[in-house]
Amino acid sequence: MKSRALIGLMADGQVHSGESLASRLGISRTAIWKQVKRAADEGYEIETIRGKGYRLVTPVDLLDSAMILEGIPESVRRRVKLAVLDEVDSTNAEIIRQRPASGSSVIPVCIADHQTAGRGRRGREWQSPRGQNLYLSLGLTFHGGFAMLDGLSLVLGVATAEALEAMGSGQVGLKWPNDIFLGRGKVAGILVELQGELEEGIIQVVAGIGLNVHMKQAESVTQAWDSLSVASPEVDWARNDLAASLVGSLVDAADEFSENGFAAFRERWQQRDIFSGKSLVASQGNLAGVGAGIDGSGNYMLDTDDGVTAVRAGEISLRVQL
Ligand code: BTN
Repeated sequence: MKSRALIGLMADGQVHSGESLASRLGISRTAIWKQVKRAADEGYEIETIRGKGYRLVTPVDLLDSAMILEGIPESVRRRVKLAVLDEVDSTNAEIIRQRPASGSSVIPVCIADHQTAGRGRRGREWQSPRGQNLYLSLGLTFHGGFAMLDGLSLVLGVATAEALEAMGSGQVGLKWPNDIFLGRGKVAGILVELQGELEEGIIQVVAGIGLNVHMKQAESVTQAWDSLSVASPEVDWARNDLAASLVGSLVDAADEFSENGFAAFRERWQQRDIFSGKSLVASQGNLAGVGAGIDGSGNYMLDTDDGVTAVRAGEISLRVQL
């Protein structure tokens, strides 16, 4: 965002004269006018009031790495290396590029204000408009086989739900395997990608969370969606606080999963299961049944005419039968 400094000055929503903005930024009034135009092109709504100046109509919630770090609990903060970027193709891709293929104990975290090629599950694109949502990835290392990744993605869903609930979202729903639901639809998605195997049994994973915070319009999102500011308008959602709280919760959950496995998360996931008791169909194959929760490895159980069948996260997706 080229106009970041200008937006920072106008974030109070008050009218600012071109002259005062120019003197505070040490540039000419013409340069201010150009920055106002650029900010408008970037999606900010700025009102020009003749003879008085400019007023930022769009509320802004700027990302700030110092504020994010400050909010992360000390025990996690000292293990994290945080990068806050104005723009990147994908924060997951950035972690993969930056992370050494070695066993460093540092947890790289990348947060971006905007993604130009945000990645969703099943090769879909993740809409990542500037300034509105949270796009956050962490690099994690685990001892175990690839099969553990299915359980991990459910664990990260629980960690995200718990962080949001602690901040006042109200009860969050989880849609197997790891979509986060609130109010009218999906509010966050999680993409776990395998980065590589350091040595046998030690795997590097990138976990990316896309969380809708202030977004109110998204023409190209086809499924039902929601954002925190719409679903829980009584809470003053700030992206820096959310990022800090998510990093703390995700790292703690990853540690607990590493030490004790999936067992401690099963009930915490199940309490939020939006499929429970619903008639479901699998997107591939001709499997249908009633949602019956997850087993001890995070597979989804379908109560079918032929008995209970477990469905693996990586293999199949489920939807409610209409
Ligand atoms: C899904 O399809 O539900 C998963 C969406 C994951 C999106 C996040 S945004 C941060 C990280 N970077 C990406 O490119 N994708 C993930």
